[in-house]
Amino acid sequence: MNTPLVVGNWKMHGSQAECAALARQIVRALGKQRGQSSASVVIAPPFTALTAAARAIKNSSVGLAAQNCHWEERGAFTGEVSPVMLSELGCGYVILGHSERRHIFHETDLEIQKRLGAALRAGMRAILCVGETLDERQSGQTFKVIGQQLRIALKGMVKDGINQVEIAYEPVWAIGTGQNATSTQVAQVHKRIRQALVKAFGSDGETVRILYGGSVKPENAKELADTPDVAGFLVGGASLKVETFMPIVRAFSHK
Ligand code: PGA
Repeated sequence: MNTPLVVGNWKMHGSQAECAALARQIVRALGKQRGQSSASVVIAPPFTALTAAARAIKNSSVGLAAQNCHWEERGAFTGEVSPVMLSELGCGYVILGHSERRHIFHETDLEIQKRLGAALRAGMRAILCVGETLDERQSGQTFKVIGQQLRIALKGMVKDGINQVEIAYEPVWAIGTGQNATSTQVAQVHKRIRQALVKAFGSDGETVRILYGGSVKPENAKELADTPDVAGFLVGGASLKVETFMPIVRAFSHK
């Protein structure tokens, strides 16, 4: 089985110095728990702090993620950052299709598909976020919405490309609200995501890590980590302090 993965999505928080300090604290905390099996850790600072964070995690096991990328390598795209540029900074991962990108910045499934293709071509791993809004859940559309997000984003993927992808199930109503999905709800959706992956990619679809995200906290991490087919977390608010992030990482120590 793949090692579980816990990703800290720092969103638009932190100066270079603050991000470097937090990254160093995480490296130190992981060093102290050496020997205990636990999750792999990836941090996703804002673009402006990627270099400082890369320096802080050098020679450690912590990975670096960007929070988005464009689909072209270069060109007249004011304000955008290409996967090649991010890879050069040391980003091994990129978060794509986050609900804040979809809902605040109106990114479409088709754009997310293009970003994903470009990230994989640049040799990065992609963390593809999917999830339903409260309205969609209440009107019984959850699986339909997530199925469509997956189908479009993963369409036309290069052969074996799925091995470079993690899926993060993040119900929009659970992000930053303090209200996490229950383990039953998470298990139901992860099962459907797994079925869709296996249908599309055969045995390669069986090993893709499916993460959960949405108000993961030290208090609920253990129960969520024990939920069937939860292979990691995408953590927002609680990833901004080492005291709340590390207990979440350790929730997988027995897996
Ligand atoms: P949250 O954010 O943990 O603050 O709910 C999760 C996310 O947006 O990835």
